[in-house]
Amino acid sequence: MENPKRIAVIGTGYVGLVAGACFADWGHRVTCVDLDAGRIDLLNRGGIPIYEPGLAEVVERAVKAGNLSFTTKVADAVAGCDAAYIAVGTPPSKTDGEADLSFVFECARQIARVIRPGAVIVTKSTVPVGTGDIVERIVEDARPGEHIPVVSNPEFLREGSAINDFTNPDRVVIGTEDEGAKATLLAIYQPLKARGHAVVVTRRRSAELIKYASNAFLAAKITFINEMADLCEAVEADVADIALGVGLDSRIGPHFLHAGPGYGGSCFPKDTLALIRTAQEHGVSLRIVEETVQANSARKRRMAMKVRHVLHGNVEGKKIAILGLTFKADTDDMRDSPAIPMIELLQRSGAEIHAYDPQGEANAKTLFEDVTFHEDPYGCAAQADAVVFMTDWEVLKHLDLARLASIMESPVMIDLRRIYPPEAAARQGFVVETIGRLG
Ligand code: UGA
Repeated sequence: MENPKRIAVIGTGYVGLVAGACFADWGHRVTCVDLDAGRIDLLNRGGIPIYEPGLAEVVERAVKAGNLSFTTKVADAVAGCDAAYIAVGTPPSKTDGEADLSFVFECARQIARVIRPGAVIVTKSTVPVGTGDIVERIVEDARPGEHIPVVSNPEFLREGSAINDFTNPDRVVIGTEDEGAKATLLAIYQPLKARGHAVVVTRRRSAELIKYASNAFLAAKITFINEMADLCEAVEADVADIALGVGLDSRIGPHFLHAGPGYGGSCFPKDTLALIRTAQEHGVSLRIVEETVQANSARKRRMAMKVRHVLHGNVEGKKIAILGLTFKADTDDMRDSPAIPMIELLQRSGAEIHAYDPQGEANAKTLFEDVTFHEDPYGCAAQADAVVFMTDWEVLKHLDLARLASIMESPVMIDLRRIYPPEAAARQGFVVETIGRLG
């Protein structure tokens, strides 16, 4: 690479580790930092602390090329760098929907102590609009009179397809009005610009808001198609046809129109709440986003009612097999997964829960009591009174339905991801309940 930059990335979660590894893979010299010594130790031994397809290969390649290293010491990584990325978590605070920015601010303080003048601080963590201004004040307090710009560079990658999303983004957003900082960020993203990816340079506050607006829009889009699914069930239409017909309108687009049990994950639930909070603080009401949040929570709870309904209103003592636990496929992340209220509500009604997930078991075990976990879907479904598909893992798309039906106590399928055509499942002996069309 022509003009490699020295980059420090603080935080080795999904965003930090993927960004650091991909920057290094492009040829930049990257040091990833995490205060968690166990995590850094694991990375230094060639391990990967999160489940993300393809990430291990990129990390290995970048380390071998000598472009990627790991440390627990912020000062070592930041001292000589051109750009220090803040990629630490912004969890929802315990008391309200507001994002907890304490990690971001602490990180900014640590960077400010050691960064060289002329280098830039870049926020990649998802932070409410105006956070860049606070970070800037923290830096000014620590280094009065010095020029250290603070840039917003939000990330749009999805768990499960993070590497592809990072290296083939729809756009890169850079929020700064500082010409020097803009030049540094453009140099960092040069490989993407060279391949024709859109790079949008805006004022910092706009960049911060673009991130939340994107996530809120996508959450609303999913919620919209989920509501259409409810209507389809009532009027005997099929939501898959609606998604196809509506999505072909180029003004709407085909993505994020897959009806399901409600969105979850570490982003949409948290970011929609944080956006509502920000708006409220400024006297603005975001009615569509507020409705989206409520409709999605209600939907997640309603999915358990669906299961009860198919089992004639009574799940007491019934063995229910939950296939898929994570909030979506290709991740081990359980945060705000629709499987959580599903299992809790069914247990409260007296059901005996058995569960299978190819990657989420370890995280799920920390959340539930009295759930029996299984190594494979058939073991999970044996003698069950119903199977519930919660996540569309690839392995769950290729089950031998005849075998599944034959080992169950009663072959009842509740397919909340539209994995199987109801007719095909019915032919194998299943009583089928699905979403977005009558079984
Ligand atoms: C989301 C955004 O898609 C990313 O662009 C963003 O960078 C990320 O949040 C973030 O803010 O860090 P992610 O939460 O990893 O990414 O997962 P998505 O693929 O967006 O799925 C979120 C939820 O929506 C899942 O529960 C998924 O099952 C659900 N979903 C998604 C649907 O029910 N239907 C769809 O058509 C699409």
